[in-house]
Amino acid sequence: MTDHAALDPATDWLLGYPFVFRALSLDTFGAGRLLDFGCGPARVAAHAARRFAIQVTAADVFEHMLRLARANNAPGVEVRAIRDGRVEDLPDGCMDAAMCNHVLGCLPTRHAMAGALREIHRLLKPGARLAVLSSDPSASGIDFDSVRIGEHGVSYRVGDELPIRLKQRDGTWAAYTDYYRSADDYPTLLADAGFHTIGQHRPTVDDAARVADPALVSSRPWTAERDTPPLLLTTTHACTRHTR
Ligand SMILES: C[S@@+](CC[C@H](N)C(=O)[O-])C[C@H]1O[C@@H](n2cnc3c(N)ncnc32)[C@H](O)[C@@H]1O
Repeated sequence: MTDHAALDPATDWLLGYPFVFRALSLDTFGAGRLLDFGCGPARVAAHAARRFAIQVTAADVFEHMLRLARANNAPGVEVRAIRDGRVEDLPDGCMDAAMCNHVLGCLPTRHAMAGALREIHRLLKPGARLAVLSSDPSASGIDFDSVRIGEHGVSYRVGDELPIRLKQRDGTWAAYTDYYRSADDYPTLLADAGFHTIGQHRPTVDDAARVADPALVSSRPWTAERDTPPLLLTTTHACTRHTR
């Protein structure tokens, strides 16, 4: 089980979450409601709610994550369970934007990924934006500052188990397992779930100098991240409603 409190998510805060926030224009979001699908302990949801003074619905399937998310008691964040693939007690089209950070890679099948994307689509207003953050499959086997995706010298096929190492605050590394996806899988799955105008972007350290916390940018050399961007941001819009 992931001990999120022990992790050092520096690479995500350099090249991931700030780019998600920018893609969703959270700085001009106003009174809208943001969905964080697969929120984990809801630290990212809490950060977004505080920094942009917005309302966030943070949703997860696992009880231990929901407990951690609720224990945060973060202003502006409401926590909801996902049961049988649906976020509890939410009507269709109630969300103005959604983010789904490091969730799809944890799901073992395309069927599970498609189900998650259909539920996000159900909840979004027509035209609302979704940002999907994942590790970049083409960056496997590289030692980044706080993550390694896959093993050195190993090639993976779509659906293979993908070992992930995440750095902890005490300098040790924790091991997890994701599933290997190609970058092209995401647009295909999104289009099947009813999304349109799909774009992909690999944030770089140079981009981060304009987007991320300057103290974080200057805190480390980011040597591997400069050579190969580790994260993939897929952005898209919801279109017509689904009937389920
Ligand atoms: C690696 S964590 C990412 C947490 C958070 N989004 C972040 O970036 O810190 C993946 C999360 O996805 C959740 N998850 C797993 N399967 C899910 C599903 N089918 N639907 C929604 N969330 C799921 C897990 O419980 C976990 O909290």
